[in-house]
Order: sequence, then structure tokens, then C-alpha cells
Amino acid sequence: MKQKNMNRYLPAEGLSPDHILGLIDKMQKEDIAWQKGRTWSLVYHAGQEHDQLLKSTFGKYFSTNYLNPFAFPSLQHMEKEVVRMTASMLNGDDEVVGTMSSGGTESILLALYTYREWARKHHPHIENPEIVAPQTIHPAHDKAAHLLGLRIRKAPADEGQCAQPMEMERLISENTILLVASAPSYPNGILDPISAIGELARKYRLPLHVDACIGGFMLPWIERLGTPLDPWDFRVSAVTSISADVHKFGFGSKGASVVLYRTMDLLKHQFYITTDFPGGIYVSPTILGSRSGGPIAAAWAGMKHLGESGYLKVATRLMQGTKKLQKGLDAIPEIRIIGQPCMNIVSFTTHHNTPDIFAVAEHLQTRGWMVDRQQMPDCIHLTVLPTNVGVIDKYLTDLRLAVNHAKTHRKGAGEGTAALYGMMARVPFRGIVRKNVRKIFEEIYSGDEVPSGTRLSSVPPDGSALWMGLVSRMLAWWRRIFPGRNA
Ligand SMILES: Cc1ncc(COP(=O)(O)O)c(C=O)c1O
Repeated sequence: MKQKNMNRYLPAEGLSPDHILGLIDKMQKEDIAWQKGRTWSLVYHAGQEHDQLLKSTFGKYFSTNYLNPFAFPSLQHMEKEVVRMTASMLNGDDEVVGTMSSGGTESILLALYTYREWARKHHPHIENPEIVAPQTIHPAHDKAAHLLGLRIRKAPADEGQCAQPMEMERLISENTILLVASAPSYPNGILDPISAIGELARKYRLPLHVDACIGGFMLPWIERLGTPLDPWDFRVSAVTSISADVHKFGFGSKGASVVLYRTMDLLKHQFYITTDFPGGIYVSPTILGSRSGGPIAAAWAGMKHLGESGYLKVATRLMQGTKKLQKGLDAIPEIRIIGQPCMNIVSFTTHHNTPDIFAVAEHLQTRGWMVDRQQMPDCIHLTVLPTNVGVIDKYLTDLRLAVNHAKTHRKGAGEGTAALYGMMARVPFRGIVRKNVRKIFEEIYSGDEVPSGTRLSSVPPDGSALWMGLVSRMLAWWRRIFPGRNA
């Protein structure tokens, strides 16, 4: 691949701060315009004043290292308060304990690690521990299970993408050490029936982890605003742990999540201790070693700054936006919302996939929207963020145009972006999909320049064109053999 603007060596002389900041300004021009609401995921922004506070707080802790909590009692204090405030928000009592982590993925990894260690102690006869979860669970669980040598067994969700306790029960065996469910699931914003899954946990004497990474800082306020939700937090007595991300709707800086356990009897298994290191006794309460105090301090400052009234205000605005969006989607005859979302997450597809939802996605993308394509079923994901609220009308107008365009230009789903994501979502042979994605990432992480504008949901790097050709041919073949089937 051609080398474009990429320096392989350190500059012989250091560059001035102005020069460096100028370079960054140039590079950032290629990034998605999240400030203009063009992305419906990734960036959680609660306003300029709030952001400024997070930056200042982060700056104050820029040089700290929470590797040794005894050196920074102020961080210890802030972590404790963040954990306690989150536990109270999620209806935990004084026994509930937890730690902060760098994000949802780490919180989930920590929870699964804790339960593995707990099971080793309490059920030492289980040699091949398993977790039972609904199909819609976030991939952080698959990754954690993979890293920890656990087997994850997934039960099919219902038509509305909601977990089915009966299907989960079928997968419980003598090897099961944990049940997991979402509040809500990321793809479609569906709240799993936590109370019913809790009944299963009770019946089989299993712990239950609730992944509230995206909902933990929204659902409490939605309930307070008067929308009744099936109980999903520590009010359900079978729930033994919850993960909730401050860096999502807690509006902290990136790198902040909380993992909570009902008692210290569980949390204590999360602490990793080594006693024979010449450098001294080494204790690691989370995954990281050296750890910036910045995200902890910013999370603390952000939560204190918003307070209950601030969170309620943001939630009101986001839910008003979501209702308007849902109404607009319902008014487009070709569009169908998936299931019954419980918060400001909506996913939609087309009736009988006509026109092709990925063709619609393709046209939306050409109109400057970043489009999150999903599979099983094929659909488009929208998390309504504060930055999206002001552009909902514009989005709906562009969506109507995209639907009309897709109806008259049927080839759209096979071109450009859709050729990568859309096609891959439909290829029945997951091994090929995995190989293709790995190839793309090999290219991204090779020593070569990534062609400008390359994102996973964008144009595939040169080398993957061959793969994409193969994928498209296989898709065409699949469609010929099984017409009408959306593999
Ligand atoms: C429900 C859920 N769980 C886990 C995660 C993983 O969180 P992170 O990306 O912060 O690691 C996400 C991210 O969107 C999520 O929505």
C-alpha cells in the first residue's frame, strides 16, 4: 500500500506545541462531525460547560497514578463516592460495594472473572464453567469468556429481541456458574425480563449479573419521569451484580465505568494479589496496573455537577427526542421499529426488507450520516444522544429520501459501505465473515498508512476488495438457492 503522509521516524528535533496542535486540527477534519449530531452512537456530550468542567478536573489528575491508592487518598475518596452514588441510584443498600473501571468491557470482564474465582472456591468440582445469556448480550461478555476460558451459552431472543427465560433455562446445566441479562441490550434498547431471570437464578441457586452499561445512568431517571419499568436493578433480590458506565449516560469522560456487587463476599474475588514479587506485595483490584486518575476525577465531578436535577433534565430532553423520532419513524409506511425499546435507543428496519434496509443505510450515509448497521435482524441502530435531539427532523427527512431512493435504485445495498457491512451481516458462513474482518484489521494495524476516511463502516482497504468480491458472490449464490431468506 502507498505511504501517504506517514512519518516512520521520530522528528530529529521536537516540534513546537503550536505546530503539533495545527497537525491535529488538520487530522481531525476527517473525523465524524459528532458535534453536529451526525453519529447516533459513541459520543455522550452534556454541553460545553459540563465538558469544560470534565477537562479541568481531568487536567488536575493528569499526572496521577491510581496504581497505588494510598498515594492518592483524594482519588480513593472520589472512587468511593462514585461507587456509593451509583449504588444508591440503582437501589442498592449499604452492603453493596464495587470499583470503578475503564469502561463497560472492563467492568464485564471483572464481573466474569469474579464469578469464575467465586465458582472455583464454592463449586470446585466444576471443571468447564459456563455462563448462560440471551443472544442479544453485548460482545464484551464473549470476549471476557474467551479470555477467561469460560463457555458462553446463548439463548434465542424473541421476535422483539427480548430475552426468553424459558430458553435460558434450557441451557442451564451442572456447569453453569452465572446468568447474565441486559438492562437494556445495546442493539435494540430492549430491557430483558430481569425479575423472571432472577426467578431462574433463585431456582438454580445461581448469581445474576445485569449489564446496565448503557442503561444504568438512564433507566433510573426514566422511571422517575413516570414511565413504569419492570424492576431490573438491586430491587430484584436475585441480582448479585450490575455494571453501569459513567462514560455513557453518566456523562463522565471516556474511561469510567462502575461494577457493583451485592456484598463484599463477591467483590473480594475481584482482587488479584501476588506476594512473591521482589518489588513488594502487589494488589490489583481491577485489570489495569498503572491507571490515570483523570477518568475517576472527571466521573466524580460530572456526577456532582449534574446531580439528580441535571440527570432528570437531560433524560427529559432525550426521551422527548426519542418519542419524536419514534413518531417520525412510525409515519414512514416502509419502516418498522424493532421490539419495544425502553429508553433512548431505537432500531428500525423495513417491512419484509422492502426496500432493502442496507440500501437505505447506504443512501443515508451519502447524506453525511454515520450509520450503524446491525444484523439478526438486519436493521439500523440509533442511540438518541444530546447532540442528535436538534437534528431529528433533518434525519427523518433524509430517511424518507433514502427510502424512496432505495425503492427506485435497487442495487444500492451491494455498493460502497453496504458491500462491507451489509453483505457481511448476511453471509451465512460466519467463518468467512470472521476471516474478512480479521484481514481488514490486519491492514489497519500493518505498518502502512490507513487510506484517508477508512472506518470499519466505510470503504474497505484495498486488500480486502478481493474478500468482499468473494463475500458478494457467496451472498448472490445464497440468495439464488434460498430466495427470500435473509441469512
Ligand atoms: C449494554 C452494553 N454493555 C457493554 C458495553 C461495552 O462498553 P464499553 O464500550 O464502554 O467497553 C456497551 C457499549 O456500548 C453496552 O451498550
